[in-house]
Amino acid sequence: MKVVAQIKQPIVKEMELFEKKFSNSMTSKVALLNRITHYIVNRKGKQMRPMFIFLVSKMVSEGLVNERTYRGASVIELIHTATLVHDDVVDDSNRRRGFFSINALWKNKIAVLVGDYFLSKGLLLSIDNGDFDLLRIISVAVREMSEGELLQIEKARRLDITEEIYYEIIRQKTATLIAACCAMGAQSVNASEEEVERMRLFGEYIGMAFQIKDDLFDYGETKIGKPTGIDIKEQKMTLPLIYALNHCSKEEKKWAINSVKNHNKDKKRVKEVIAFVKKTGGLEYATNQMKAYQEKALELLKAYPQSTYKDSLELMVNYVIDRKK
Ligand code: IPE
Ligand code: IPE
Ligand code: MG
Ligand code: MG
Repeated sequence: MKVVAQIKQPIVKEMELFEKKFSNSMTSKVALLNRITHYIVNRKGKQMRPMFIFLVSKMVSEGLVNERTYRGASVIELIHTATLVHDDVVDDSNRRRGFFSINALWKNKIAVLVGDYFLSKGLLLSIDNGDFDLLRIISVAVREMSEGELLQIEKARRLDITEEIYYEIIRQKTATLIAACCAMGAQSVNASEEEVERMRLFGEYIGMAFQIKDDLFDYGETKIGKPTGIDIKEQKMTLPLIYALNHCSKEEKKWAINSVKNHNKDKKRVKEVIAFVKKTGGLEYATNQMKAYQEKALELLKAYPQSTYKDSLELMVNYVIDRKK
């Protein structure tokens, strides 16, 4: 059996029901919005965030989920979708999930508004049902994601990013939402504060590994359904490059920084920077850091007795770093 099917096995029913609820949660009276919503629902992603919610919920409660868990999953996926639509505007990226991005098809104006619509739909789903504890978790994540994307732009502009700042950026822009998934999974079945916090941290570690993997993809040639090689073009300095800049000669550093600063739209030059990062060992280093976060996440699971849910979560942690897209 494929690993994703294996991971999903203990939550097959939940994921099926989730998809229906998720799709219903997006409907609007505006025809244009419905057209775009259809386009998005038909090109679904890996749905890893809902999977985390259901698996965590079931692991901490001996197999229980409830309506709050479902709503939490829909809210998170709505917000995730909103941030991707906005992110592709910010990154000027024309592909997503193997198809044209929303901004590529409908232009930036519409993409910004559609993202806002999904965000508000997500928040209202919590508010209308009185899930204020879940709403707090999710709102913190939304705030941090915006801060993370802005921090990234600020640091990129000055090209003075350190490894520490990189971790702060990816913690905010990516890990915080996966942390929110795991915390919400536990909170939705009214787990103790301590348990919710442990699961939040578990999600944060996975999220860190997840974004390092995403940044490694950008240096690769594999087809992942979105452009590769665009991080340097967008002056996004990620771990492989940061490492390389700190482990090369003065001349190389000057050349690399100048390339990112002034020649970032020159395809040939970007390829040369990528080759420099590879030669300097940036990919190996980032891979090792990713694995260190993977280990930390697995360590936190040790507190739980064996169950099919725990088995799936372990597989999922490994899938985050072994995945092909
Ligand atoms: C992409 O997330 C955005 C990042 C945080 C890197 P996913 O890789 O989970 O996106 P989909 O939903 O599967 O397309
Ligand atoms: C993802 O960052 C962060 C988000 C919160 C959307 P990226 O810009 O690296 O994500 P992809 O690679 O476009 O999916
Ligand atoms: Mg992007
Ligand atoms: Mg990326």
